[in-house]
Amino acid sequence: MTDFTEISKRYEKDSFVQKSASEQLFDLLKINTTDNVLDLGCGAGNLTKKIAEMTKGKVVGVDASEGMIAEAKKNYGGLGIDFAVCPVEELNYTGCFDVIFCNSTFQWFKHPQVALKSCFNALKANGRIGIQAAGGKAYCPNFIQGTQKVAASLYLNKQFANFTPPWNFMETSKEYAALFENAGFEVLHAEIDQTQSFHSPEEALKIFDSGAAAGYLNQQYYCCPISEDYKSAFRNVVLESFKEQANSEGQVDLVFYRIFLVAMKPQ
Ligand SMILES: C[S@@+](CC[C@H](N)C(=O)[O-])C[C@H]1O[C@@H](n2cnc3c(N)ncnc32)[C@H](O)[C@@H]1O
Repeated sequence: MTDFTEISKRYEKDSFVQKSASEQLFDLLKINTTDNVLDLGCGAGNLTKKIAEMTKGKVVGVDASEGMIAEAKKNYGGLGIDFAVCPVEELNYTGCFDVIFCNSTFQWFKHPQVALKSCFNALKANGRIGIQAAGGKAYCPNFIQGTQKVAASLYLNKQFANFTPPWNFMETSKEYAALFENAGFEVLHAEIDQTQSFHSPEEALKIFDSGAAAGYLNQQYYCCPISEDYKSAFRNVVLESFKEQANSEGQVDLVFYRIFLVAMKPQ
């Protein structure tokens, strides 16, 4: 499982794109003022806090990363939210929640079918799950360009060839919808949208660090040892690529493809 603990302390500040994408997911999910809500893969808890401001119901935030949950408890622990370290694979709720909110997390689930079974059990009848996640292997062409430069680097290419991507990606909204339908859900909305925002190369690197780096720079996804030097050189090459991608105003046009899906547990 991917450990986000390394970036947990700076995650809330640097998660620009996760935050902006969450707004669209909130719009789609329409959390009611009495809903009990599970924030699945809640990270540093900043979006869980937003949920707690929307409902008087019970709000629970779970995440696989101890560091993320420590941050969430430190910053938002006093707001009546239950934060717990719990990988989705160990989720054990039955008929508790009206809504499951899952932002920028689903692509990390190694066994999405198992995750969806646990989510189905955790929801009440008519309960809704909403996910926003990177959609498709080329979910961020800017990152792909950066990693192609890594693959072409004589210093890094041999080690990078030993990297196996950890993400579960589907290429079409139909495939995502089928996955949810197979788990018993009725899909209400499924669409892969393109989002676009402009950032300096350094800010684009922070965005890379806030998600993708937890895969690309993670020992567990390499079948050879990787050193701190490798990680640092990798980030430098990605930064160089972002500088090359910047327009005449020095801004990188950062494009993401994201699946937005809302589904309901039928009666
Ligand atoms: C990019 S962060 C998103 C955090 C937050 N939802 C947000 O939108 O800001 C992805 C989160 O998914 C968590 N995660 C990854 N795999 C997980 C799993 N199997 N079970 C629960 N959480 C997981 C990570 O620890 C990390 O905090």
